[in-house]
Amino acid sequence: MVFYANTTQEITEQEARHYEEGRRIAAAGMVLLENNGVLPLRPATEIALYGAGARHTIHGGLGAASVQARFVVTVEQGLEDAGYTVTTKNYLDKFDAREKAASDSYYGKLKEIQPPILAVVTMYANPYFMPDMAVEEEDIPSNRQVAVYVVARNSGEGADRKPVRGDYYLSESEEEDLSTLARHFQDIVVVLNVGAAMDTSFVREIPHISAVLVMNQPGNLAGYAVADVLSGKVNPEGKLASTWAKRLEDYPSSVDFLLPEKKRDDTDYTDGLYVGYRYFDSFRVEPAYPFGFGLSYTQFSIDAAATKVECRGHLLNFMVPVTNTGALPGREVVQLYVSAPQGKMPKVYQELKGFGKTGLLQPGESTVVTVQLELTSLACYDPEQAAWVLEPGRYVFRVGNSSRSTHVAAVWNLGREVKTAQCKRLFTRGDRVREMEEPVFSTDFYPGESQEINGAQAIVVDLEKIPCVTYSYQVEKLVYETKERGIIPFGDVVSGKRSLEEFIGQLSIREMATLCVGSDAERAPSKQENRADTAFVMESTPGASTGTTSRLAEKYGVPKVTTADGGGGLRVAPVFEVDPTGKVLTDGVASIVGMEKVLELSGRGDTTKYYQYTTSLPIPTMIAQTWDTHLMRLAGRVIGEEMEWLHLGIWLAPSMNLHRNPLCGRNFEYYSEDPFVTGTASAWVTRGVQAKPGYSVTIKHLACNNQEDNRNTISANVRERTLRELYLKGYEIAIRQAQPHCIMTSYNLINGTHTANLTELLTDAVRCEFGFRGMIMTDWGTTGRRREGEETKYRPSSAPGCIRAGNDLVMPGSPEDVEAIRAAAEKGDLSLGELQWCVRHILERIAHSHWFANDCKNK
Ligand code: BGC
Repeated sequence: MVFYANTTQEITEQEARHYEEGRRIAAAGMVLLENNGVLPLRPATEIALYGAGARHTIHGGLGAASVQARFVVTVEQGLEDAGYTVTTKNYLDKFDAREKAASDSYYGKLKEIQPPILAVVTMYANPYFMPDMAVEEEDIPSNRQVAVYVVARNSGEGADRKPVRGDYYLSESEEEDLSTLARHFQDIVVVLNVGAAMDTSFVREIPHISAVLVMNQPGNLAGYAVADVLSGKVNPEGKLASTWAKRLEDYPSSVDFLLPEKKRDDTDYTDGLYVGYRYFDSFRVEPAYPFGFGLSYTQFSIDAAATKVECRGHLLNFMVPVTNTGALPGREVVQLYVSAPQGKMPKVYQELKGFGKTGLLQPGESTVVTVQLELTSLACYDPEQAAWVLEPGRYVFRVGNSSRSTHVAAVWNLGREVKTAQCKRLFTRGDRVREMEEPVFSTDFYPGESQEINGAQAIVVDLEKIPCVTYSYQVEKLVYETKERGIIPFGDVVSGKRSLEEFIGQLSIREMATLCVGSDAERAPSKQENRADTAFVMESTPGASTGTTSRLAEKYGVPKVTTADGGGGLRVAPVFEVDPTGKVLTDGVASIVGMEKVLELSGRGDTTKYYQYTTSLPIPTMIAQTWDTHLMRLAGRVIGEEMEWLHLGIWLAPSMNLHRNPLCGRNFEYYSEDPFVTGTASAWVTRGVQAKPGYSVTIKHLACNNQEDNRNTISANVRERTLRELYLKGYEIAIRQAQPHCIMTSYNLINGTHTANLTELLTDAVRCEFGFRGMIMTDWGTTGRRREGEETKYRPSSAPGCIRAGNDLVMPGSPEDVEAIRAAAEKGDLSLGELQWCVRHILERIAHSHWFANDCKNK
């Protein structure tokens, strides 16, 4: 039995480097929402520090994406180590006692639940919330330079956030605290230690709130990164990747999210394309903080009028002059939005089509940021023609540093319709959904807009240079048969001696059915042998998988590939125990944050302990908020290096669902409300991970897993155009740009069919149109039986249905799934070609996995 984890607890050089890299990303991903000049804090200031997140700083979200941190630098520690004096130690000690009591009681109850996986389910449904504790007069120090109040919120998989006080809104106690502080302090700095947007009306209602910083959940060195920003060591440069509304009801999707009992079976996406800024800008609803917004300690000017545009074939380069007009060095993000003409298809006011970031600009320094776009990216989808088209009319290009602060840089007058892609109609069952309609405004969006448009430079494009593709949906599912005695070992495929087709041709239906179903050693580490045929295993004690026998391994030499979850990092059990016989004693769910307070080590003296602390990086939303593609790739590189250390072949991330509504419990794990930002971030993270040969990412959850309540049973009913332009767009961008090796489907249904069984999504869209060449797997247990009380109109997805739709691997699946696939194949309900097609994708992945990455000759 081989284990790759360490047998000592020392922090390795790589680990220490990764912490510092995480800190860099974290500081760049924080967003400054308000500042009257109190920030950056003067050196050696005395700080009255309050709020749950001050000493109990949350480093990341909950659930599958959670990462067990070896340690977390709290806000208190970060400020002290940066040379500040915290004057409210008594208050923080009192809060500690209160928090300990609450947490002991919460986790004490969980400990009683057996088996541990049920404790996880209970925890998912009711995540732990820190208690309130009022700031009393005695907690106010005599020296009142500045108060820093850290609001903390957490959420995760399995439950949405609630539109109540203490969750989306400040609790009564937090609100009173801020009012108390406002009576004593001239300046209050509010720090939001949150996973996603929350209500900020208190900022406008309570006096003396001088600054607001979204620190989010920034990973291990949380406190250092926040101190870097508050002290000015790092000038804030993050920009929101989603709109923060003034009122929760302002998001059109809140109609669904605010239903007391969310509709169980169906939810119609009546908001259509009007998600996030697409809604707020088109309907002219003023947000609290717009998409793309974030303050700096310096100022910048972005000169839209002086922007030069160069057209090269179907590419446009916008060269945008930026100057640091303030007094401190800093970085600025240039965002490029395009307003397409209102034609046959209604258009949102504007869409982000590109961005770029300056280096560190000194006061007075100027630079030119080049933002590139492809003209085809301006096309919209016309269901009548089943085609992407550039509708004739005027395209307005706008540059700025948020969706609400742009100026016109150029216009393009297109005289005729140009088709950029001929598709076929998909998702027609969404046609019955009625989407909201955009109002027509006859006035400018902002003063002077018309003049800017009329005076703008016109771009000249040679229309012949705009390419048009015609997709083919012909998928040949060939049948391979190898009639020879003896076994062709997988090693011969890897070395190029024999073809993959020959290898597949020798497998029996039973063997193929077992190959198409994975296993979940994580949930039952001692029962790994029960599912001996599998090649894919979910495991949080990596290394053990190489020791488990598998018939496929013994007979053909097909090794197992281990998968691990995560969001901002890798989710593995940081410590695990192995007995003298080589059996892993630690339950795999020990990897899930929270379970470290529930599960204990065996206490036996004869076990070996292994340590595998992975880095808790900033949550993915923060990675997007950096708007820095280098840092996105860096995050991926950190993860790739840790995968290599632990021989983890497949990372079950990045997650790419959109922030349709701030209440979605998993928003922290998703990048943005915008598919361009989502696709770009995901592509760069993918490049970072996959730069390590043989290591793979899994983009997920394809698609529309935009709510957690009822996630297994809800059908997201969406029109084709909205699916293509919004919910699938990010996947398309990531696939075209970075070819992620794996995809995971979602739990939910789309227009009445489980995504795991949806051929038009998995084969027609993803493979035939987007060009995906990797392996597709289901989310965990989509084929499973419904739990009690979960019976709904929709049945679980079917395992043979997965294979038929082109979903190669059922994860983790069950013996019943193997049986169902085998029976369907033998009866002819599933053709041999269909089964072999999936088997092929699986074996290709294994042949190119880290086990063989450097010597696989079979392309
Ligand atoms: C989550 C996935 C995760 C899987 C494996 C599911 O519950 O939705 O994101 O990858 O579990 O842990």
